[in-house]
Amino acid sequence: MQIVILAAGQGKRMRSALPKVLQPLADRPLLGHVLRTAAALEPSRTCVVYGHGGDAVRAAFPDLPVDWALQAEQLGTGHAVMQALPALTRDEPVLILYGDVPLLRADTLRTLVDAAGADKLAILTVTLDDPTGYGRIVRDGAGRIVRIVEQKDASESERALREINTGIMVVPGDRLAGWLDQLSNNNAQREYYLTDVVAAAVRDGVPVVSTQPARVSETLGVNDKAQLAELERIHQRENAERLLADGVTLRDPARIDVRGELVCGRDVEIDIGCIFEGRVELGDGVKVGAHSVLRNVTVAAGTVIAPFCHFDDAVVGAGCQLGPYARLRPGANLAEDVHIGNFVEVKNSDIAAHSKANHLAYVGDATVGSRVNIGAGTICCNYDGANKFRTVIEDDVFIGSDTQLVAPVTVGRGATLGAGTTLTQDAPPDALTISRVRQITLTGWKRPVKQKK
Ligand code: UD1
Ligand code: MG
Repeated sequence: MQIVILAAGQGKRMRSALPKVLQPLADRPLLGHVLRTAAALEPSRTCVVYGHGGDAVRAAFPDLPVDWALQAEQLGTGHAVMQALPALTRDEPVLILYGDVPLLRADTLRTLVDAAGADKLAILTVTLDDPTGYGRIVRDGAGRIVRIVEQKDASESERALREINTGIMVVPGDRLAGWLDQLSNNNAQREYYLTDVVAAAVRDGVPVVSTQPARVSETLGVNDKAQLAELERIHQRENAERLLADGVTLRDPARIDVRGELVCGRDVEIDIGCIFEGRVELGDGVKVGAHSVLRNVTVAAGTVIAPFCHFDDAVVGAGCQLGPYARLRPGANLAEDVHIGNFVEVKNSDIAAHSKANHLAYVGDATVGSRVNIGAGTICCNYDGANKFRTVIEDDVFIGSDTQLVAPVTVGRGATLGAGTTLTQDAPPDALTISRVRQITLTGWKRPVKQKK
């Protein structure tokens, strides 16, 4: 089996500089969803027919093992498939997909391909309460499909038919070129309709069959931002249903967004409003508080994330307590039982087991040992405006509040830094280091008073 994806449509109604098939659904271009489903079917070859915004479309999918066929002018779906012919073989059936129909499932397409076999034409159809705008499936008295008629060409009685063409079909490879050759654009839209191959098949005695998808929503296409938003919600609802089926607790399945891959262990709980991007792995018993955003993050078992956290490219060990309002930036690597509290930012730093930074701190380019306590307001001064330097904090260090660690600097094992210290040289182990102006009191001092006018 081979696949042709029609993706040349302009998508004017998107009112966007981005070509329609590059508009993102769950952070992946519409065409990317279709290509992924296509790949799951393991076709012998795939050809994408592109047109509008062609270079951008091709550039968005570099190094894919697909052929690209340019349709310079959009003269209809039949004309579009003609552009793919040089990339196809006559020896295998051709599955035709649309680049702007992103939710189709591989299983639905397998059923269609199986129904077509080697020598039948198979159409994916659905029955709608309101079929307006779609091509209608016309059947004879015995229920056999005889042709497809487009809305604009249909008679009143044909318009009353509620079974419609989703556009997805499988055509025998040895027949396709001949039938496309016979197409004319003598119709209401002056287009070469792919759908006219159905009447040609009937004429040539080729059986025409149909199958239906599990859900009608699989076949929905995207023409404008309203439909894009609608499909995003359907897709997210399906993600949520999958998570629920896997045993994840979602406080509200309507209020979670997975824009990538979310892998969960047992007894994971996710509160409302969370967004997961890229690949996120949550271990057994992990709890994610409301309105947290996690992107490319691994969280080990038993860690509790309080609300309003933002994690990006980070690794979190088991049994940690994070947030509320914690920020982990790329390269944050926390071992087990680490506490990162409110308004603490960690970047490109390793923090070993049982260490804590509970309030208002910046830990950047640091190596932090075990059982370290980082006081409120501690800042790693890692950047001189041109270069970045590392801070090393060894095991069992206690850092008093409002301390600045001017890197490169090392705080030795077991050291204590007094509150307010600006550390510019290494602090020796097991001692108190403090840089603070000695406190004085001026007893006779008077506070200035405003002059009366
Ligand atoms: C098509 C079908 C109709 C079906 C409907 C389902 C035909 C003639 N009609 O109608 O029976 O009910 O889809 O949504 O096939 N495209 C190209 N090049 C072109 C024209 C279209 O690549 O010259 C692509 C579009 O980008 C789109 C797909 O083909 O992905 C369908 O095109 P569209 O214009 O939406 O077809 P409809 O008129 O809606
Ligand atoms: Mg359409």
